[in-house]
Amino acid sequence: MMNASGSVEKAKEHFAKILNEQLARVEAMKNAPGWVDYKQLKPVVIAICPGDGIGVEISVQARRVLEHMLKDDLAAGKIVFRYIEGLTIENRVKHKKAIPDDVLAELKKCHVILKGPTTTPQAGDKWPNIESANVAMRRELDLFANVRPVKIPAEGVDWCFFRENTEGAYILGSRGIDVTEDLSIDFTAVTEQGSERIIRMAFEYAKNNGIKRVTAVTKANVVKTTDGRFSRMAKKVAREYEQYGIVQDEWYIDIMTAKLIDPARRRDFQVIVLPNLYGDILTDEAAQLQGGVGTAGSANIGKTWAMFEAIHGSAPRMVDEGRAKYADPSSMIRAAAMLLRHIGFPDKAARIDMALEVCVQFERKMSVSGRQDGATGQDFTDYLMSWIDNPELRSAWEKYTSGGR
Ligand code: IPM
Ligand code: MG
Repeated sequence: MMNASGSVEKAKEHFAKILNEQLARVEAMKNAPGWVDYKQLKPVVIAICPGDGIGVEISVQARRVLEHMLKDDLAAGKIVFRYIEGLTIENRVKHKKAIPDDVLAELKKCHVILKGPTTTPQAGDKWPNIESANVAMRRELDLFANVRPVKIPAEGVDWCFFRENTEGAYILGSRGIDVTEDLSIDFTAVTEQGSERIIRMAFEYAKNNGIKRVTAVTKANVVKTTDGRFSRMAKKVAREYEQYGIVQDEWYIDIMTAKLIDPARRRDFQVIVLPNLYGDILTDEAAQLQGGVGTAGSANIGKTWAMFEAIHGSAPRMVDEGRAKYADPSSMIRAAAMLLRHIGFPDKAARIDMALEVCVQFERKMSVSGRQDGATGQDFTDYLMSWIDNPELRSAWEKYTSGGR
């Protein structure tokens, strides 16, 4: 057993290594490339990665919807699909890597990725405690913005969360150390560049969509240094957007979780920008209000690549209990819609969104419960696709939402 000062020296070395890596990352952010222009890409290559657990089932349904929407572009060779199978927990464990090298190389050859949920082990599980594939992919492809829209049209709720995706408590979440037998330390990091790029994206979204309020969520009264930096940056960027009539406010994460379930106040929030862990927590709560985490999709956007996924995990329990085919594919289909919008097909994306809202929140002829008493993902997707193709879709959606967004 090492003595205390030996343990401290070892921890210092570990910490020094992390600091140097993070300073290098800051330099890389300063020299980051410009945004990819999908219109210039011929073809646009879409990776389809089913993941594992219920990911396999729900990805098939999302892929069907994508294939249907992109029929003509696929036939004309403007869009190409590439199926990448290696993100299963078995394959990741075999290579003892969050993303095996060959899989990462394949992903990097594509432009956008539709990714099914992937199992994230925790100490004590049946799997070795490897890092989350999501977190690794966000870091490796520098997917810094996790954009999560949540809509409850009947209540006038239309939120768009901009979750910082490469820093905060997640950045070094699997690099913490047990300094001694009694002391464990994790790390959290926030950078000037990392906060600026996500906050700016939130403000740009507000500006481009005529939205007049951007809310930052922190716990800067307690987590003073890292959240403090995020909070300062939100105020700094906000000054540039005052000229567009956009106001910025800040809420602490605890009261914000309460406000989201306050029917009198929640519709007032519109664009919400927040550090990684708070974004993780708050978006599950928001998705539950929309109809469950199974209904929400998530876009992980970087300048070179973008990845689209469900906001939830791979639900291994559902698979063990033989319920995978009853898993709700809506989250992955939402993700597919976000992918389409991102690569330049806003009308197709809007049709999917409208059809999802009609099927999940209004008509509800068939609903998915995750169990035998609900529809299978496949039957639900057939139902959804019949609405996507229905010429009455827009007018039905407008009737249900009494006039639209
Ligand atoms: C999410 C998920 C992931 C996260 C997990 C699976 C690592 O909960 O995308 O919100 O915590 O980011
Ligand atoms: Mg989450």
